Amino acid sequence: MTILAGKRVVLGVCGSIAAFKAAQLCSTLVQAGAEVDVILTRAAREFVTPLTFQSLTRRAVYGDLYGDVAANPSLSSAHVDVGMHADVLVVCPATATTIARLAHGLADDMLACTALVSRAPLVIAPAMNVGMWEHLATQANVATLLARGATQVGPTFGRLAEGISGMGRLAPLEDVVGATRAALGRGGPLAGRRVVVTAGGTHEPIDPVRFVGNRSSGKMGHALAEAARDAGAMVVLVTGPVSLARPWGIEVVPVETARQMADATLGACEGADLLVMAAAVADYRPAVESDRKLKRSGDALAITLAPNPDILATVSARFGDRLVKVGFAAETGEVAAEATRKLHAKGAHLICANDVSEVGSGFGTDTNRVTMFGRDGSVEALPMLPKPEVATLIIARAGALVAARGGATA
Ligand SMILES: Cc1cc2nc3c(=O)[nH]c(=O)nc-3n(C[C@H](O)[C@H](O)[C@H](O)COP(=O)(O)O)c2cc1C
Repeated sequence: MTILAGKRVVLGVCGSIAAFKAAQLCSTLVQAGAEVDVILTRAAREFVTPLTFQSLTRRAVYGDLYGDVAANPSLSSAHVDVGMHADVLVVCPATATTIARLAHGLADDMLACTALVSRAPLVIAPAMNVGMWEHLATQANVATLLARGATQVGPTFGRLAEGISGMGRLAPLEDVVGATRAALGRGGPLAGRRVVVTAGGTHEPIDPVRFVGNRSSGKMGHALAEAARDAGAMVVLVTGPVSLARPWGIEVVPVETARQMADATLGACEGADLLVMAAAVADYRPAVESDRKLKRSGDALAITLAPNPDILATVSARFGDRLVKVGFAAETGEVAAEATRKLHAKGAHLICANDVSEVGSGFGTDTNRVTMFGRDGSVEALPMLPKPEVATLIIARAGALVAARGGATA
C-alpha cells in the first residue's frame, strides 16, 4: 500500500460543476486504504448528493452545520472532531468562495469550521471560471493559504464548463492524489534528502524513425519516485520515453538514449543522497546512426552495436559512497548470482533483483517479485506485490541506509 493506507483524509467538496469528479477522487482514496470523511458544502449538494459519497466511503457525510446535529445529536461536536482527527484536508474542487472563507478564517459552515480546527496539511484543488480565478481577490486568498503552508494543485488550462478555454479547470485527479500523498509525507524519513530515480527503457536510434528499445514501461521507476516523494524527499526522475503521466511534485528529466540518461543522472547525483537505478538502460546502441531513413533493399541488414556507458558503475566511480546506490537486476536465469555480481561490480549498496521470465514480474506488468541483496550480505525476498507496494518497501530499506549514514548532504 502507499502512504494513503490507514490515513484519515477529510475531503471537502464545494459547489462547482467539477464536483462530480470528487466522487472518483473519493473512490480512489478509499481504494488506496484511506478512511475518508466527506464534507459537502451547501452549494456542493446542488451538484452531487451525499448518497454517492456515503456509498463510496460507507461513512456519514457531513454538511449542514446545524441540520445534521438536529437529525443526529451524536454529531454535536462533529464541527470540531472531524478536523481534529484528520491527517490531511483536501478541498476538491475548491471554489472561490471556500478559498476566501479559508483564507479569512471564517467558520460559518462545516468545511470552514473543520479547516479552522484542523492542524493537518491542507491541499486545495481550485476549479472555477477564468475571470474568478484571475481576480486579484482570489489570487490574494490563494497566496495567503500558500504562505500558511497549504498545497495548491491546479487549476490547469483547458475547456471550462461555460464552453470557453482558459485557466480554471480542475487539475487531473492523479495530481490531486499525488499532492495529497506528498502532503501526508511531508517531514517523513527522507525529509531534506535529495533522491534521484531513473525509469523506463532507452531508445537507441538506428535512423531518424527507428530505434533499438526494450519492453520497460517505467511503472517501477515512477512508483519508486512517488514513494521517495511520499517519504518527504526532493526527487528528480530521469525517465526514458514512457506513456505514464508526470508524477506530481517530482522534477522530471525526460531523456531518450542511454548516453543522455547517463549525463542527466550524473548531473542530478551532484549533492544527492540516494540514487535508485530502475531504468532498463540499453547495454548497446547502433554504432552508427544513419541521418537518413534506411531503405528496404531485400538484402540482409547487419547493424553493429557499440557498448553504452554503465551508469551505475560510472556514478560509483565518480561519487564513490557519497550517496547510497540502489541498482536493479532484471534477469531470466541465475538471478541471485547475477545480483551478487552486480552488487560488487557496480559498487551498489543494494541490488533489487527479479526474474523477468516469471509471469507478473518485471517489464510492463503492474506487479513485481523482487529480492533485495544488500552489500552487508543480507537477502530479503519480497512476495509478488503491486509495484507501488514494492516501491514503498525498497524506499524504506534505502531510506534506512541513507539514515544510517547521518546528516542530510543537501
Ligand atoms: C452552475 C454553477 C457552476 C458553478 N461553478 C463554480 C466553480 O466551478 N467554481 C466556483 O468557484 N464557483 C462556482 N459556482 C459558484 C458557487 O457555487 C458559489 O460561489 C457558491 O457560493 C460556492 O459555495 P461553496 O464554496 O460553499 O461551495 C457555480 C455556480 C453555478 C450556479
